Amino acid sequence: MCGIVGYVGPRPSQEILLSGLARLEYRGYDSAGIAVIDGQGDLGMRKRAGKLSVLRDDLASHPLADGTTGIGHTRWATHGGPTDENAHPHLADDDKLAVIHNGIIENFAELKAELESAGYAFRSQTDTEVAAVLLGREYAASGDLVDAFRATVTRLEGAFTLLAMHRDQPGLVVGARRNSPLVIGLGEGENFLGSDVAAFVEHTRHALAIGQDQIVAITPEGVEVTDFHGAVVEVEPFEVTWDAAAADKGGWRSFMAKEVAEEPEAVANTLLGRIRNGVVEIPELDGLDDLFAGITRMVVIAAGTAAYASDGHVGKYAIEQWTRVPVEVELAHEFRYRDPVLTPETLVISISQSGETMDTLMAVKYAREHGAKTLSICNTQGATIPRESDAIVYTHAGPEVAVASTKAFVAQITALYLLGLHIARIRGALSPSEISQSVRELEAIPAKIRKVLDTETEHIAQLSHWMADTRSVLFLGRHVGYPIALEGALKLKEITYIHAEGFAAGELKHGPIALIEPGQPVFVIVPSPRESALLHAKVVSNIEEIRARGARVIAIAEEGDVAVLPKADEVLRIPLAGPLFEPLLAVVPLHLFAMGLAEAKGLDVDQPRNLAKSVTVE
Ligand code: F6R
Repeated sequence: MCGIVGYVGPRPSQEILLSGLARLEYRGYDSAGIAVIDGQGDLGMRKRAGKLSVLRDDLASHPLADGTTGIGHTRWATHGGPTDENAHPHLADDDKLAVIHNGIIENFAELKAELESAGYAFRSQTDTEVAAVLLGREYAASGDLVDAFRATVTRLEGAFTLLAMHRDQPGLVVGARRNSPLVIGLGEGENFLGSDVAAFVEHTRHALAIGQDQIVAITPEGVEVTDFHGAVVEVEPFEVTWDAAAADKGGWRSFMAKEVAEEPEAVANTLLGRIRNGVVEIPELDGLDDLFAGITRMVVIAAGTAAYASDGHVGKYAIEQWTRVPVEVELAHEFRYRDPVLTPETLVISISQSGETMDTLMAVKYAREHGAKTLSICNTQGATIPRESDAIVYTHAGPEVAVASTKAFVAQITALYLLGLHIARIRGALSPSEISQSVRELEAIPAKIRKVLDTETEHIAQLSHWMADTRSVLFLGRHVGYPIALEGALKLKEITYIHAEGFAAGELKHGPIALIEPGQPVFVIVPSPRESALLHAKVVSNIEEIRARGARVIAIAEEGDVAVLPKADEVLRIPLAGPLFEPLLAVVPLHLFAMGLAEAKGLDVDQPRNLAKSVTVE
């Protein structure tokens, strides 16, 4: 939540900041602002409520003097509503100092009271301005921005990434992080800071990931990282593996449309380099067999799409079946606060596209502190959650910009499956031929997703158009179809703002069937009749039950399943796949449907209201 960018170098910084913010806008889009130290050594600042385009238009009509040192921010409001005043940057020290912030400063009220009683005044309702004023006071005392910054951040509690610059020290931007993301981009005679690499990837792919409770000072000539006590620390360099074009819309009408279309590649790229002669070997896990050998239990933790809406559950069914190790799935924010039983034999697997979700990060730290082993599945290099984990398996979905997660979701299931097969091999729970059969299924998935996209996109667009005025949609599934029903409902709520709920089809008669009234649309994920005749028959009976009460049934069924034809009003087809692999196909029509309905309603599919992509506050 909140996107942050900083620049020092020889070039005018405004456009660099604005294009960095455009790439970070998915992190928050209720207001935006920049501050620049101009050629005269003056600090100029502009900030506006609304999307980044409002700021851009304002700067176009009332230009700000440009300069080569600058910071920029795109906001998702926590303290104080989305107004011009509450937007960042916040100024202090007679407007010579500018500060931007991501996170929540938990002790801001007491700090504010202290500063107010010392005579300082505030212009906003934000916790950020408190940090700015505190920093201004420290700067007035020391005259050195890095020293003042250190004295300030050590007084802050909570989660924060802070960036600051001072008119009297042009060519310097300082940053600090605690439980909130910050990465460094290394250029030639110029350097960058960003919430993630998207902020600067069009300028450099050389990056440094800084650790918790560290401070970075960037100048055109170099970068220095110290801890909160001033000791210099070595930081890990890494190369960004994708280029700026990957995070562009590239001619698509929306990022979501592009990212749904990229689902086949997201799976294919996640498999790449991890399968050798039909055997799963994940290079990142080389030498880590001990991590898996003695475990007696696995707990998958995540939030939102990555958990509640299903990956965790889909993964549970597969990993438990393959490894014969019990797997539990839990929402990260519930897990963290309920005193879970954790032992050195517990492997806690976290799943996060961004690698920054605060709920998940806190749960991972908690698990480690309480003796469990931790492994993270993550899509973002340099992110915090992998750095806090004992092991990491990256998904290679490429940058996901639309707030609603789509391609990352299929990549996460793919990575979980690879992990399950990897653990099953190490523990000898599956024979080589069983493993290679699952590997063949996985390898066939990208082409099958492509087929769903090729054959159903138009059909679903029409369906969405007809359903544009629908006020409620239900989703039903059994076994691995159940979490897909949850995902279908979440995606619909998130981007169309209509009532949507997913149920295990078996639950229907225990309550939810009361919701069915004539014309109620219900998506039903129908299991394969070849692979699971029993489950198929049960779901067909569920369809009969809701049809008898007037439901309008849209079935997602495999090719050749003729039994559903007379029972459903619409049938969306998916290619044949083994039961554990069907979710990777069945979810695609649901992503297309949510997007189609949002478009039919004229909504912004990439930036739905009230949301931000990376939830970096608890
Ligand atoms: C839904 C969605 C969210 C995220 C959740 C976790 O479409 O995108 O529910 O899945 O906020 O985010 P990550 O995976 O970044 O931890």
